[in-house]
Amino acid sequence: MTVPYWVAGQPATGEDRVEVRTPHDNGLAGVTTNASAQDVERAVAAAHAVAGEFAVLPAHARAAALDHVSRRLAERADEVAALITAESGKPAKWARVEASRAVSVFRWAAEEARRFSGELQRLDTDPAASGRLALVRRAPRGPVLGIAPFNFPLNLVAHKVAPALAVGAPIVVKPAPATPLVALLLGGLLAETDLPAGSWSVLPVPNEVAGALVEDPRLPVVSFTGSGPVGYSIQERAPRKHVVLELGGNAAAVVCPDWTDLGFAASRIATFAMYQGGQSCISVQRVYAHREVYPALERAVVARVRELGVGDPADPATDVGPLINEAAARRVQEWVDEAVAAGARVLTGGHRDGTAFEPTVLADVPPGCRVVDEEVFGPVVVLEPVDSTEEAFDRVNASRFGLQAGVFTHDVRLAFRASARLAVGGVVVGDVPSFRADQMPYGGVKESGTGREGVRAAMEDLTEQRVLVLTGLEF
Ligand code: SIN
Repeated sequence: MTVPYWVAGQPATGEDRVEVRTPHDNGLAGVTTNASAQDVERAVAAAHAVAGEFAVLPAHARAAALDHVSRRLAERADEVAALITAESGKPAKWARVEASRAVSVFRWAAEEARRFSGELQRLDTDPAASGRLALVRRAPRGPVLGIAPFNFPLNLVAHKVAPALAVGAPIVVKPAPATPLVALLLGGLLAETDLPAGSWSVLPVPNEVAGALVEDPRLPVVSFTGSGPVGYSIQERAPRKHVVLELGGNAAAVVCPDWTDLGFAASRIATFAMYQGGQSCISVQRVYAHREVYPALERAVVARVRELGVGDPADPATDVGPLINEAAARRVQEWVDEAVAAGARVLTGGHRDGTAFEPTVLADVPPGCRVVDEEVFGPVVVLEPVDSTEEAFDRVNASRFGLQAGVFTHDVRLAFRASARLAVGGVVVGDVPSFRADQMPYGGVKESGTGREGVRAAMEDLTEQRVLVLTGLEF
């Protein structure tokens, strides 16, 4: 069956057939079509036309639709997770986590839609404004173009769609070309709601077609998650638009000398360096451990990594599956080989097999290697001893990225110092940087992006303040 795409809330099929293949064994995950040029135009025109009506749709209507999607995602969680695994190669255990996170994103968006009210500001603080009061509310900036990546093919679509619908901003979503199917399934759930026609569309289109959407003035907001070069090219192509960029990172974990449970730290580092093949912007890529704990930590990380189940992502026991395609695995191999040629030691792993790359731990990586400086987006972690926590913080900051960092310490003062010192969007204390609760603000500094997701934060980002001044009041 050819899965339809969604134009202004209605199913549609184009001529350009797209076979979605599972990265593990190249089996067919499903078939859809790219949206035709006419359908892309219909979707954008409908989003533009409905924007005024949608912005004033009562909160109960928006919240009911979002609650409905949350409930239906929960009911179909097994099917949803299996589809995520089939099209992206994400191991089943992580696909289930992703499905349940999307349930929570829509639930939070429903709750926030009910709360999103604005504030009252008294203006009678000067004689000239006696009897005056301002109502400061937020109005949608306008229809949104949401461009999602392959690594969380459902939840990062949810993070575009749910906040937009919660504030009454129409959205046109472009899923990643490799993983459109679960986004189209989500479209099927949105189609069960009473949201106005035009308030949402899900359009698989090749990346080359997205350029015209980025420049289309009828979509004044672009929310993009993906690579830096693409993100910055969007900003350059649409300088007058409000552009939200969730880009990459080379996230680091710091292990401080007061952290004695090295088994726990090692287990978290091993798991979250390798989860979904390291294809997460906050997977652990760099570890800076104090020399007092480094030797034991290194041994424990290597042991934990060797225990990870590798292979078929559909197998419930698998921890680490394939990368999204062979080109990605080849690139990781090239970067690991570069580090080894420069003197790095491979403590475990280091080899590619088709689309899969072995979970790999490196040490003694010389400065300037891409496995440290760039975003690997593969199952590779680099361990390095440091003489002090301050040195570790300097090493974390010596990056052009700044998404999240993890600091293993029990010292609350050090936790605050980390938050003050580290140039990142978020610090996780007592754990790896890879923790994300979907309601918390999430985003980066430096080349990790601009703007924040996390349901409430995204709702603020997609809206602008509107002031209503009332006069002649007694209050
Ligand atoms: C990302 O890769 O940026 C998203 C990470 C997450 O949502 O857990």
